Amino acid sequence: MEVDERGAKRLLARHPWVWRGMLRRSPETPGFYPVVHRGRFLALALFNRKTELAVRAYAWEEADPWEAWLKNLRAALKRREADRVARPQGGRRLVHAEGDFLPGLVVDEYAGYLVVQIGAAALEARRAALVEALVETLDPRGVLLKNDTRGRQKEGLPLYVEAAYGEIPERLWVEEGRVWLPVRPWQGQKTGAFLDQRENRLFAGALARRTRPARALDVFGYQGGFALHLARHATEVWVVDASEAALAVAREAAEKNRLSNLRTLAANAFDFLKREARRGSGYDLVVLDPPSFARKKGDLERAYAAYKEINLRAMRILRPGGHLLTASCSHHLNEEAFLAMLKEAAGDARRVFRVVARAGQAADHPVLVNVPETGYLKFAVLKRVG
Ligand SMILES: C[S@@+](CC[C@H](N)C(=O)[O-])C[C@H]1O[C@@H](n2cnc3c(N)ncnc32)[C@H](O)[C@@H]1O
Repeated sequence: MEVDERGAKRLLARHPWVWRGMLRRSPETPGFYPVVHRGRFLALALFNRKTELAVRAYAWEEADPWEAWLKNLRAALKRREADRVARPQGGRRLVHAEGDFLPGLVVDEYAGYLVVQIGAAALEARRAALVEALVETLDPRGVLLKNDTRGRQKEGLPLYVEAAYGEIPERLWVEEGRVWLPVRPWQGQKTGAFLDQRENRLFAGALARRTRPARALDVFGYQGGFALHLARHATEVWVVDASEAALAVAREAAEKNRLSNLRTLAANAFDFLKREARRGSGYDLVVLDPPSFARKKGDLERAYAAYKEINLRAMRILRPGGHLLTASCSHHLNEEAFLAMLKEAAGDARRVFRVVARAGQAADHPVLVNVPETGYLKFAVLKRVG
C-alpha cells in the first residue's frame, strides 16, 4: 500500500491515521499491511478502503504485520500485569486502541471477565485468533465480544454482542476502593461501565470523606458510579439520569453496598438543573458527568453552550464552600475550551471558584502526545469561594 506526500508526512510524525484520499495504491481487501512512500517503508497498518479513515498504523519497523500486532498486544497486557495481580476483583482497561498501538481494539476487564470491542474490519477477520491470544495470555473467566459500537458501521461491519469464551453473567461487580461497582457487560453503555472515571470517582470519595457533604448530587449519574463513593460519607445523595434502567442498577448497587442514603430520579438533566436553580435549592457537592455533546467538530458551538448551561446552573445551586466536580468526555472540546467554558459559566453565575484539582482519564487509558485523539476526558474539581 502506498501513501502520497501528505500521508507520508503524517506517518513520519508518528500520527497513525491516513485518510483514504491520501492513498496512491491500495489492496482490495481489509487487512494488516506495510505502508510505503516512493518505495520506502514507513509503517505497518490496518487497512480498510470502505472507511474515510482507511489506514491506521501501529508499528514503525518492518516485521510480519500480524506478529507485530500480537507483540503490541502482549506489551499492552504486560503493562497492566501489576494491577491485575494487586486487584483481581477490580475493573481496568487492558487495551486502549491507538493509545496502546492497537487501533481498532478495546479490551476491558471486570473481575476476571473480558469485554472486547473490535472496531476494524481487518481485526474482525482475525477475531478467533485474537480471542485465542487473550485466553492464552490472561486465562480469563469469560470473553464477551461487545461489538455494538456505531463506528463499526463505517467499517461495513455488523453490530452484535456474543460470548466468545465461557459464560458471561448479566451483572458483574467490581471492587473500586471500598465500593462494589455494578457492570452490565451485555446491556450497559461502553463495555458495561465507565472505567475512564475510576480515579476521579476515588478522588470524589476521598473529598467527601474530608468534607462530609450533607446534600450531594450526581447528575448524568448512570449506575451511580460517583454517587456510591459519595454516599459512604454524605448524609444524602441523589443520582439523576435519563435512563431508568441505569438508575435501577444504581439502586441495586446501593443495596449491595449497604447504603440507604442513595436516591434516584429519572429526569432530563437540563430540565432538572433549571428547576433546582429556579427553586434556589442548595447542595454541598455536585458531580456533572455528561455524555459527549460534541461527537464531531461541527457540533462544537452547540456543545459549548450546553456544557456552559449545565455548569452555570450547577454553580448556582452550590452552597458556599461546596464543590463542583465537572467533566467533559468530548475530544473536540479541548482543555483550553473546557476551562474557558467554566470561566464564562462562573462569571454568568456571579460566583467565584477555586481550582482544587484537574485530571483526565484513568492511567490505563494512555494518551499519546503525537495522537491528541487518544485523550478525551477532562475533569475539574472546583470549590465555591465567593
Ligand atoms: C458519561 S455517563 C455517566 C457515567 C457515570 N458518571 C459513571 O461514573 O459511571 C453519562 C450519562 O448521562 C445520561 N444522559 C444522557 N443525556 C442525558 C440527559 N439529557 N439527562 C439526563 N441524563 C442523561 C446517560 O444515560 C448516561 O448514563
